[in-house]
Amino acid sequence: MYKHVDYYKTYGRIMQFNKNKKEPIHRWYPFVEGYSKEFIQSILEEMNREHLVCLEPFSGSGTTALELQNNGIPCYSFEVNPLMFLIARVKLENGYDLSRIDYWLNFVKNKRSTVQVTLQTEFNTLYEGENKKKWNYNKEVGIAVEKLRVTVNMIDEEIYKELFMVALAAILLEVSNLYRNGKCLSYKKKWKERKLEEGNVYQLFDNKVLNEIRKDIETAKQKVIQNNKVMLHHEDSRVGIEEKVEDGTIDLVITSPPYLNSRDYTDTYMLELKTLGFTGTSDEIRELREKTLRSHVQIKWKDDTKINNELLAKTILKLEEAAKGIEQWNNSIIDMVRLYFVDMQKIFSVLYKKMKNNGRVYFNVSNSAYFNVLINTLEICSSIAENEGFKVIEIRDARELNTSPQQQKQVGKLLEGVIVLEK
Ligand SMILES: C[S@@+](CC[C@H](N)C(=O)[O-])C[C@H]1O[C@@H](n2cnc3c(N)ncnc32)[C@H](O)[C@@H]1O
Repeated sequence: MYKHVDYYKTYGRIMQFNKNKKEPIHRWYPFVEGYSKEFIQSILEEMNREHLVCLEPFSGSGTTALELQNNGIPCYSFEVNPLMFLIARVKLENGYDLSRIDYWLNFVKNKRSTVQVTLQTEFNTLYEGENKKKWNYNKEVGIAVEKLRVTVNMIDEEIYKELFMVALAAILLEVSNLYRNGKCLSYKKKWKERKLEEGNVYQLFDNKVLNEIRKDIETAKQKVIQNNKVMLHHEDSRVGIEEKVEDGTIDLVITSPPYLNSRDYTDTYMLELKTLGFTGTSDEIRELREKTLRSHVQIKWKDDTKINNELLAKTILKLEEAAKGIEQWNNSIIDMVRLYFVDMQKIFSVLYKKMKNNGRVYFNVSNSAYFNVLINTLEICSSIAENEGFKVIEIRDARELNTSPQQQKQVGKLLEGVIVLEK
């Protein structure tokens, strides 16, 4: 057991993205699985060094790199999901010109009503149609969304095309018949009775651009000099860090990897990925899943690799025992658990190599449970990191997360925390 420190009060609220929803620029896209900018600030207050160079292996919507950029601190970041990569790129761009935003918004307004679109997709439930039982967008909404997508793609200044694409991405869930239900998407109550017209969609889009995005750019207090956009890479961090970051150069890592919760972010953001054409076919979805950390069971992994870790070995034995008596909803769960920690070892190993002596890692993750067996991810990750050479300073207990009612009865709530490491 590593030293646990009670951070429930300090971290309880700031480990969620919610607080970012009111913060300029951070709020442009309502991300779910992130922490708030306050978490980054609290770490900066602890660091008593100047001229920090940082690394974020799992960028998500870019909270870490953006907050560090605002503080003049360089940060390399890596993200595999093309939607998250786009959102982070757009938030990190610091050269927007208000008059160009106005120009392109006018362009979109003029073009969108005249442009011709057909609702064609490989994904059967995306748009309303004959003989369908379920659909993500009602017909008028689908048309408006597609007209906006086509029009935004006509913008020939890249940074504004990307900016408007994020504005569109940010309203998709609201105009659709879906809501994010934890790790997946579910249908809203009485979704068939929803009556949204094309004009309602345009109104929401225009409001997003004018009342949030444009406003935040206009009111940005100081000119940001640091440019973390050029240090953001659309790459699998298990591979990309080795190539893109020099050995022994990193002072600080702040990150939150995907949790071991059997779903990947491809599912949570499927609506945006499909609608905006990031993943136009099922094969492309599969390709994306293959690049993500192995925290999910949507694809079958063919990899026998094992790592040498006592706590993990014991946990896997328990899982194998427990699984015998239970009808499994997915027979890849145990492989997923094993391979998740193989990936973690890879990450800790490359982080160690890239860090300076005395460099620090803040690693936000939570425990999991399957077949009523607790997977103590916080402790297992700590011991993997230790094997790779890190000193485990402490584990900061931040929050308790709910699991399924059945698991909760046996294993209780799941601890979320922050592992603090030093090289
Ligand atoms: C918990 S989220 C990070 C949230 C982020 N700290 C924030 O506040 O926005 C984890 C991210 O890791 C990304 N990811 C998963 N596998 C990856 C990989 N192999 N390389 C880089 N990013 C990956 C996911 O797409 C997801 O966006």
